[in-house]
Amino acid sequence: MTYRGLLNKYNSICKEKNLEIEAIKLLILELSNFDGASFLAHYDDEIELDKLNVLESAICKYVNDFIPVQHILGYTYFYGYKIKVSKDVLIPRCETEELVGYVLEYYDEIFKGKKVNVCDIGTGSGAISIALSKEEPNMTLIATDISSDALIVAKENAILNNANIRFYEGDLLQPLIENNLKFDILVSNPPYIDKHDEVDPLVIKNEPHLALFADDLGMACYDKILKDASKILNTPNIIIFEHGYKQRKLMLELVDKYYPNSECEIIKDLSGNDRITVIINK
Ligand SMILES: C[S@@+](CC[C@H](N)C(=O)[O-])C[C@H]1O[C@@H](n2cnc3c(N)ncnc32)[C@H](O)[C@@H]1O
Repeated sequence: MTYRGLLNKYNSICKEKNLEIEAIKLLILELSNFDGASFLAHYDDEIELDKLNVLESAICKYVNDFIPVQHILGYTYFYGYKIKVSKDVLIPRCETEELVGYVLEYYDEIFKGKKVNVCDIGTGSGAISIALSKEEPNMTLIATDISSDALIVAKENAILNNANIRFYEGDLLQPLIENNLKFDILVSNPPYIDKHDEVDPLVIKNEPHLALFADDLGMACYDKILKDASKILNTPNIIIFEHGYKQRKLMLELVDKYYPNSECEIIKDLSGNDRITVIINK
């Protein structure tokens, strides 16, 4: 069978099962060490039997066992950086790459060229901290998570990417307050799904619930972070959150409660959903 034949074979299966053929293409590319161009160059090559078995066994884990491709490979790419993932961390999402882009943009606007301390609350795989520290050398990153298992993965990813990040285990800002640390930028993509919301069964099955769900209509972490943020923030400062697309109104209420004099902007993601809140205190 050729690579073209293999993709055709699974194209219809993906349609039937509402899965993504792009995910299968990624598996083939990664397991065959192809980039996009070399894959096209070999599109009509016959695949050796041994290799075909390896590819089909990986593809079947996705189409039959519904295991995410990132878990089959053991890694993903985030903002161009290779990030290990496991059952202990959320698979970083493309909306979070947008969040990183906005942190860099607002850093340029408010702090351009200055050295800043940045905290990443609920770091999971470490993806946000790694991307920021690699993209902007003026940022010193400190990341926290309540999950010791997630922090093991995050530390591995920092080493893998040669990123200099300090990690603390603990509840939201608590370890930072206890260590009397101060920051210019606070970024967080905390758990934000309300437990009554409908969630893709594949996400429920494969991703840590600690990374997904939060009390108070999914707003509990934002409330706690904003309540304590003044204890760890310098002035000026930027607070920037990723959140659920239905949380605009609740987010604005929290901003009004804790930072009524701030400049606040809610930004839509590339799919047109309210996704990122930026709070600037000058
Ligand atoms: C939605 S995931 C985001 C992971 C990563 N920042 C990303 O964007 O891919 C939320 C993370 O927050 C962590 N978390 C949940 N509750 C927490 C708490 N009370 N304090 C600190 N971290 C928490 C979870 O373990 C998880 O790693």
